[in-house]
Amino acid sequence: MNNLNTRAIILAAGKSTRFKTKKTKLLFSICGQTMILYPLKILESLDIPITLVLGHQADDVIHELNKKPINNLSYILQREQLGTGHAVACTQHTWDRDHVLILYGDMPLLTKELVQNLINEHIKHDNTISFFTSYVIDPIGYGRVLEKDGKFLIVEEKDCNDEQRYINRINAGIYVMKRAFLHDYISKLDKSSITGEIYLPELIRMACEAGLPVQAISVPFDNIRGVNTLQELWGVEQIKRSEFIKRWMARGVRFELAQSIHIDINVEIGPGSFIGTGAHLLGSTKIGEECFIGAFSIVEDTTLGDSSVIHSHSVVQRCSIGNNAHIGPFARLRDNSRIEDHVEIGNFVEMKNSTIGAYSKTRHLSYVSDATIGSQVKTGPGLIISNFNGSQNSKTVIEDRAFVEGNNTLIAPITIGKDALVTAGSTISNNVPAATSASACIPQTNSPRSITPLAEDDDSEESQKNREHYDKTFQFTGAIKSKKDQRAEF
Ligand code: UD1
Ligand code: CA
Repeated sequence: MNNLNTRAIILAAGKSTRFKTKKTKLLFSICGQTMILYPLKILESLDIPITLVLGHQADDVIHELNKKPINNLSYILQREQLGTGHAVACTQHTWDRDHVLILYGDMPLLTKELVQNLINEHIKHDNTISFFTSYVIDPIGYGRVLEKDGKFLIVEEKDCNDEQRYINRINAGIYVMKRAFLHDYISKLDKSSITGEIYLPELIRMACEAGLPVQAISVPFDNIRGVNTLQELWGVEQIKRSEFIKRWMARGVRFELAQSIHIDINVEIGPGSFIGTGAHLLGSTKIGEECFIGAFSIVEDTTLGDSSVIHSHSVVQRCSIGNNAHIGPFARLRDNSRIEDHVEIGNFVEMKNSTIGAYSKTRHLSYVSDATIGSQVKTGPGLIISNFNGSQNSKTVIEDRAFVEGNNTLIAPITIGKDALVTAGSTISNNVPAATSASACIPQTNSPRSITPLAEDDDSEESQKNREHYDKTFQFTGAIKSKKDQRAEF
């Protein structure tokens, strides 16, 4: 198999100067996956061993990659970033196979099929170098490909003369080269007289001048776009995102305003589901069939069963939600909360690290934290679970069919037993046994009311003074006239 005879070199040592950010561009995320992981995962899936050239912020890149190690990956440090040719020269001792695939770390739209195709063509035609090119409307930033009598020359953007600048055939930045050729020629690369950098594409000119077979293969630009600026990152992410959206549309998912929706690479959505305008589906979110995600909701690292609804403007992170559940609008669920089937969580409810059983309802203005709520439990508006005593979190348990009326504070640790009732406006700090009714609010007393004049009718000396002060300050008496003044005018 061709890949068995190929080693890959990925160049990722550059300083990301054009990004103008502190962090290297290779650690920026595109649809939830770090940019450098895109080429790495392709090569891993093709079973090709990889040498990754690092330099600028190498430790940060290694730290990120260690989170989920890639098979057959080794690192080489390019201490000084002297150019792409120099970066490849630094890897010479790793060229253990007959063919060397070289690509740049900043081309996240590349596909596995294209990489395989380049290797296959290279071996089929016994080329010394095979590389991808594209025809583009706006070639700015890319090396221009000049071809004369089957011989190629790449001229870098900064080195182009006025005529060359208009050439719209560009070098994609992915090559397969024979190891023997690389051995002979890599040390012959010179610094550019204009930028002082050592350019890798110069090897193409050298191979052509030596009469060796070089093949340029044209591929769609959208697959090889490079990312040198934040604007290009935005453009590339738009393309990636629309790839995912088209894929899910083909599988029966309706996107309300597709261009406004953010979706990450590992998200899965069942057929018949509806994704509203501006929704963010992030991380490893899995949405079942016939679900509804309302406009502007954020769903991250969360699983949803079938036929569940997240109404608009809700934020749901690291949760699991069963079938036929209704969440929101304006709900916030987080940190391992488990919502079982047919549960209703309403507006302005925050739920953290809690479980709520089937058919239970918490529909308005509540804070539920570190709680285990059974099934068919109802909690009224304004439930506050006070789980933190200043030094530690404690658990709250509300057992099946309990009913907690509105405006209650439950002070954890606490258990509300099965079928218990907690009446409105209570502060409950002791357990409530099963099938009992608990009340802990201050009893109501009614007494006669002494009536004081309303502020706006107040014509005391002090309020007169106030008015004069405002008159002076704002030069506008209308704004501070009392009702009495108004009455006097009419
Ligand atoms: C490069 C090509 C250009 C091509 C374009 C395609 C060169 C000289 N130019 O230009 O012909 O059209 O890609 O996108 O190769 N890097 C290192 N060490 C260095 C310099 C760079 O590892 O000393 C890495 C960078 O981190 C980056 C990659 O090499 O991942 C490409 O470098 P970059 O500066 O982005 O090259 P371009 O100017 O885009
Ligand atoms: Ca680039």
